[in-house]
Amino acid sequence: MTHLHDASIRIIRAGQASGGGYVASPTFSQYGYSWLRDGTWIAYAMDVVGQHDSARRFYEWVGRTLSNYQAHVADLVAKLGRGETLLESDYLPTRFTLDGAQEADEWPNFQLDGYGTWLWGAVEHIRLTDAPDFWQKLRPAITLTVAYLNALWQSPNYDCWEEHRDQIHMSTLAAIYGGLKAVQQIEPMLVPNQLPHHIRTYALQHGIASEGHFMKYLGNAEVDANLLWTALPYGLVDIHDPIFTKTLAKIERDLHYPDGGVYRYRADVYYGGGEWLLLAAWLGWAYVELGRRSEAQQILHWIEAQAYPTGEMPEQVSEHLLAASHYPGWVERWGTSACPLLWSHAMYLILETLLKGTV
Ligand code: BGC
Repeated sequence: MTHLHDASIRIIRAGQASGGGYVASPTFSQYGYSWLRDGTWIAYAMDVVGQHDSARRFYEWVGRTLSNYQAHVADLVAKLGRGETLLESDYLPTRFTLDGAQEADEWPNFQLDGYGTWLWGAVEHIRLTDAPDFWQKLRPAITLTVAYLNALWQSPNYDCWEEHRDQIHMSTLAAIYGGLKAVQQIEPMLVPNQLPHHIRTYALQHGIASEGHFMKYLGNAEVDANLLWTALPYGLVDIHDPIFTKTLAKIERDLHYPDGGVYRYRADVYYGGGEWLLLAAWLGWAYVELGRRSEAQQILHWIEAQAYPTGEMPEQVSEHLLAASHYPGWVERWGTSACPLLWSHAMYLILETLLKGTV
């Protein structure tokens, strides 16, 4: 729908700060920051719809922001080398203020997936804009990120939903793997040669439930819709791999509301556990890749139907909540859930473009 395509670009542009960071949501009380994870997907969407200048400004911002952490990462690696226990403040932030600063708050910062994600996105940006020179500009931040991931990839950390600090999440391993593999394509020497291979081997050895699908995190045989990442885009396994086929089938069974959206995971209570637009788009993406276009099209229509008349798209919708009794508590605590969420707009644009066949 042209109107929602244009509205999405407008909302994303309006949510980009002059320095390049994208706000996660301009109106929601907790999301007035730029996350590497959300930001990369927003930038990728802008790349696929040809708004490269916006994506470029985001990656320039990431490059500048992370370069301030050179000494921080060096200290962390040295501490690990001396066998010292790390403090929460030793890890890099998961979100930044729009001018690239770190907020001194209690946010669950230790999340590795965004660091893999931005590596993946930066490589895509360079590929889609044919800009090998830009690599040199990003190189210090990329080198630092690789060192950080190399040191920590096996440590339990919060997942992309900012939960379960004590677990090792398969979607996070996939994002780290995908980011490092992407960097290797451009400059193999920047990544320890066997590192992606080790991560993949570890994930396949420990992260598969007895039924043969990926698990949400090691020791938890449920699925999370973020396991779609294992194939798309991170390629931990091929989309036709039986492990992915089984993972997808369980996600469809457990998490896809009939003709509706996609839940994060069955036990979700955040805002009562609604259907997420961005995850619906992810499922649609998988359907496109699998040649199931009419199902992808149906998902696109569902997403479009969730937009407000002004074009804003929410993070999640609450028509068929998994845990309705939890909903009022969240509204009381933080206000109604995020809308617009720029990441929802981004995933909508990606699916829409895929269905047009122009990615
Ligand atoms: C989500 C994260 C997201 C953040 C900002 C959180 O509620 O769980 O995935 O990065 O919101 O959109």
